[in-house]
Amino acid sequence: MSAIIVIGSQWGDEGKGKVVDYLAEQANVVVRYSGGNNAGHTVVVKDEAYKLQLLPSGILYKGKTCVLGNGVVIDPEAILKEINGMKERGIDTSSLRISTRAQVLLPYHRRQDEAEETARGEFKIGTTKRGIGPCYMDKVARCGIRIVDLMDPEEFAAKLKHNLTAKNELLVKLYGAEPFEYEPMLKQYLAFAEQLRPYVADTTYLLNDALDKGEKVLFEGAQATLLDLDHGTYPYVTSSNPIAGGACTGAGVGPGKIDKVVGVVKAYTTRVGEGPFPTELHCAMGDTIREAGHEFGTVTGRPRRCGWLDACIVKYAGQVSGLDALAITRLDILDGLDSIKLCVGYLYNGEIIKEYPASLKVLSKVEPVYEEFAGWKTDTTKVRRYEDLPAAARAYLERLSEVAGVRLGIVSVGPNREETIIMEEMF
Ligand code: IMP
Repeated sequence: MSAIIVIGSQWGDEGKGKVVDYLAEQANVVVRYSGGNNAGHTVVVKDEAYKLQLLPSGILYKGKTCVLGNGVVIDPEAILKEINGMKERGIDTSSLRISTRAQVLLPYHRRQDEAEETARGEFKIGTTKRGIGPCYMDKVARCGIRIVDLMDPEEFAAKLKHNLTAKNELLVKLYGAEPFEYEPMLKQYLAFAEQLRPYVADTTYLLNDALDKGEKVLFEGAQATLLDLDHGTYPYVTSSNPIAGGACTGAGVGPGKIDKVVGVVKAYTTRVGEGPFPTELHCAMGDTIREAGHEFGTVTGRPRRCGWLDACIVKYAGQVSGLDALAITRLDILDGLDSIKLCVGYLYNGEIIKEYPASLKVLSKVEPVYEEFAGWKTDTTKVRRYEDLPAAARAYLERLSEVAGVRLGIVSVGPNREETIIMEEMF
């Protein structure tokens, strides 16, 4: 296997960082293909936690080429802060490559995100306010500024001037927000450009050459299936395509070059932001899971909404991304529970539906159909072989795999690299 895509199968925060970190060790190249610094991965190495936002998880290993593909939106200030933070901790970032075709996220995108969220009132999406949506809006409107433009002072100055005039009109006249001044922004971003220059490359050629040479390439998904612009719980989604197909458009590789797609599934469900969530627990059990799992946003610190695992979602993720295997994370968080529920269908208007509904009106009215499993009440964090997991834990996981129609490949039982059960070698 030389190309693997790892995606989130739920609403994000499934623990992709840990799985990607594990697979990154075997890869030559690690690629981010969508999103921006709205993502937040925590990777624990030797009890030290690294919070990654834009940098691919491979950055924590020496000698891996790390790529931010054309589908990523790059906030220069944020990426430089992250690079410098890594350097201060002794991590070498010289192998990072940023696509010339990636979009540049500017301060007006952040302000527009804030202003639009406020203006939405009760229809707010609950965005991370990092400017991600507005940056992708400009990309689609074909007025975005790309990294290749940022590298060309004349080109950048002209495009910034043009865009800033329009953005200031929008911010001031429509939203009553503060405008930006052109000269200080130009100066600041030209300085950022020089700091970023050593990292900029045509990553499309770099990746295709690496694949042609038989190098192992890992495509690291950010966000997740239900946050996908096309396939998620629209409009409560992000503005890019985190599903497996997004790796092809967001990195410039053909689908025929992909060997395997791995879906990361948290052993329960969480969600941040707004939107329906059928298995959400509004009772003490939700708080128990939140506390046990430290379910607070890496980027925003917001408490995450918690609920039982929904196998209908995992099945849907399996279909839209063509999942080959599941990587289950955070099984250990359920270790202390007396019993655990798994949603295997929905009840709507007296009928059982198994498909994930497109209509949010329907989704907000469905009642989950649960199967209940005995808790295992055993510490699983020391388990390293699947057959050594308690029988009750295996029963729970196997039923998930059966309903989702995707085999189990990895089970993670703790945050550290070694706290992992490998059932199938991925590369
Ligand atoms: P945006 O990506 O900032 O526009 O936010 C859109 C929606 O996606 C909001 O509900 C966010 O909370 C959610 N979101 C974006 N990135 C992540 C992530 O990495 N994990 C979980 N939720 C996310």
